[in-house]
Amino acid sequence: MPRMGDNVRDRAAILADLRTATLPRTVRCYSQVGSTMDVARQLLPELRDDELPLLVYADEQTSGRGRLGRSWVAPSGSALLLSLALRPGWLPPERALSLVWMAGVALCDAVAEQTGLAAMLKWPNDLLLPTGDGVYAKAAGVLLEAGFNGAALAWVIIGIGVNVSDSPPPGLARYPATSLCAAAGRPVDRLALLRALLRHLDAWHALLIAGEEQALFDAWRARLHSLGRSITVQLSHGPIIGWAEAVDRSGALILRDAVGALHTISTGDVGVLSP
Ligand code: BTN
Repeated sequence: MPRMGDNVRDRAAILADLRTATLPRTVRCYSQVGSTMDVARQLLPELRDDELPLLVYADEQTSGRGRLGRSWVAPSGSALLLSLALRPGWLPPERALSLVWMAGVALCDAVAEQTGLAAMLKWPNDLLLPTGDGVYAKAAGVLLEAGFNGAALAWVIIGIGVNVSDSPPPGLARYPATSLCAAAGRPVDRLALLRALLRHLDAWHALLIAGEEQALFDAWRARLHSLGRSITVQLSHGPIIGWAEAVDRSGALILRDAVGALHTISTGDVGVLSP
């Protein structure tokens, strides 16, 4: 449950002395929306380039969505639910995934900073937290939606959902789920977490604009819990089991199967192996 005084829907409190370079330039907060992705999409055309990035935050979503067509559900006030909208004219469309790496790395580092936990990423971008005995569970996810103008990127919306004080019950989530509070064993301040996340996002955003994509890629790869393990990956035509050997420079996962064949996977859902 939300803590007394844990008001994240306070634009002034979010921005107070934040000291970020560009992110966010516009903030909109809501108690309840369908999906922050849709709100951001509706607001984008009204905003000039110098009013972006836009941050849309909500305490509750009635139709939150996740990757691969799934829904994303969280009790009101128990999560950080946000979308960040940009018109990244500086970014070639084939490099759009770097924004997903930016979100994953920033999320990992903000959560580690606020909880003291060794946060990592499940490929490509789910936040994992240690829950004891070497077991890691998912506590947050990242969703990227983009629109094109011919071949150019017209807009990008990065959605981030973090289970702060509640997580889906076993059976509802495909991967073991946890919350920051459960993994840390203490309350976690959602406003402080949001502010830390914005600072980390801003720092990587500035580096990306400056052309430092390799540094971001290296930081993302270094946080990938999935690498160097036997994993299952759910693909559209069924599961594949193998050794997660590497990621290539496009971010695709390189998996070696039982007969030694290499598979390059661009989209999929990494799961746990049954014992
Ligand atoms: C995933 O792990 O599948 C990604 C989940 C992304 C959920 C967030 S919550 C805020 C934003 N609004 C949505 O409808 N989805 C994203």
